[in-house]
Parts: sequence; structure tokens; C-alpha cells
Amino acid sequence: MEINPNSFTERLLIDAGIVPGMRILDVGCGNGEVTLLVAKIVGETGNVVGIDQHESALTSARERAHKMALTNVTFQVGDLTNDPLDLQFVDAIVGRRVLMYLPDPDATIRRLMPNLRPGGIMVFQESDSTMIPGRVESWPLHEQVNQWIWQTVEREGANIHMGFHLPNVLTQAGLAVEHIRAEAIIQGQNTAYPLATIVRSVLPRMVEHAVVSEAEVNIGTLEQRLLTERENTKSVYISDIAFGVWGRKPH
Ligand SMILES: C[S@@+](CC[C@H](N)C(=O)[O-])C[C@H]1O[C@@H](n2cnc3c(N)ncnc32)[C@H](O)[C@@H]1O
Repeated sequence: MEINPNSFTERLLIDAGIVPGMRILDVGCGNGEVTLLVAKIVGETGNVVGIDQHESALTSARERAHKMALTNVTFQVGDLTNDPLDLQFVDAIVGRRVLMYLPDPDATIRRLMPNLRPGGIMVFQESDSTMIPGRVESWPLHEQVNQWIWQTVEREGANIHMGFHLPNVLTQAGLAVEHIRAEAIIQGQNTAYPLATIVRSVLPRMVEHAVVSEAEVNIGTLEQRLLTERENTKSVYISDIAFGVWGRKPH
């Protein structure tokens, strides 16, 4: 995997001080996207453990690590809210879009604190819909589709305003917040944002949570309709704000 110099996640990790040789824990790692990125950064002298509650996601994460011939990555199943966590002592704890799914993120961060060495960092990236839709002219289809996605996630119990709360979650756990940033996820003007692909993967959950019917989504034609709207709209559209924060554990 080539490291993408434009990735918000990657810049956040590097700016936060993730360097070769570090031991890292990636909480709520899912299929390992962030874990594998971290593995590349810490290199063979470091290591990373990804933890997630879903064994199926970890199976896919392990396959990806195997294909990339990475030897410094392991994955462990566990519930961050309940299970006794048998985790290694690390230099940094990272997570992306996971605190928003936890019923009590403050409590989870406090539970993780003993595994972080004094002087170590926690780095989190969370999404936030508070300022969405961001636009100067109307994007009816994009706005509708985005609303379906945010509504689905919210009905699944996620806090869709987690980005704004993130700095305080780290502060409450006793970390000294060193940096807060946010970046708009932009569509339009040839940005390659795969909105229709995202809808296709979320569609069963949209229907399950009675957000929208399959007929209304009309997935077969959605990509073309989105494309037409992009071509006919001169400005750009903001569909998400990614927040990135890191904080340090006092010595
Ligand atoms: C939106 S996914 C993000 C996955 C990954 N961090 C990424 O950015 O690609 C959220 C992940 O958090 C995991 N998760 C949510 N609650 C959890 C919990 N209580 N314990 C462990 N994992 C959890 C889910 O299983 C899911 O894989």
C-alpha cells in the first residue's frame, strides 16, 4: 500500500508524532484501514494491534495484512465498553470513527489510559454532521442522499456530533490536548468522492432502519443522477467534516 500524502488520517497520525519503532493500539479498527496505515508508518521495528468487536471485520483485516506481507500487525477481538482488555502497554492509541459509536466514550478512553505510557499520545479522528449540508447553492440530490446516510448512522445509535465533543472527551480522561483540526469533505468539481458506492454498501441498513425505501434510492441510476447534478452545479458541496485531535498523557 502506497502512503497517500493527501490522506487526512495519515497527516494527522504523522503530525501527532507517530514514528518508526512505536508500539500502537488501533481501537475499533474494523477491516484494518487505519491499522495498516499505522503499520507502514511504524515500520518493522514497531508494531500495531488492532482491536474490534467484530470477528468478521478482523478476518478481512488479517487477510489484508497477510497480502501486504506485514509482520508487525496483529488483530484482537474485544468489546471496548465491556470486556476486560488484555492489551499491550503502548506509545500511542489511535482510532477513527469509533468513539461516535460508543455509548460512553469518556468511560472507554479512561479504561484505555492504563495501557498508554506516560508521555504517550491518543489520536482520534471523528466525523461530524453539525455543519452539513455546507453549500452556497442547492444540491437537492446530494443533500437528500447525505441525509439518508447520516440518519441511518444516527438511528444505529451513533453520535453524529462527535467531532465537536472530541477534544473534551480527551480532556476529561486526563490527557493534555495539544492539537485540534477539522477538514471539510468536499464533492463537486471533479473530486472523486464515491457517494453512490457508499450508498450501495449502506443501503440494506438504510432500509432496515426505515430511513428510505429501495425504490426511492433507485440505486441502479443513482450514480448517473449524482454525476448530472455535479455537472450542473457550479460550486462545491460539503458532505462531512472530519475532526482530528491528539492529546498527551502527563508524566
Ligand atoms: C465506522 S467503523 C471504523 C473502522 C476503522 N476505524 C476505520 O476507520 O476504517 C467503526 C468500528 O468500530 C467498531 N466498534 C464499535 N463499537 C465497538 C466496541 N464497543 N468495541 C469494539 N469495537 C467497536 C465497529 O465494530 C466498527 O468496526
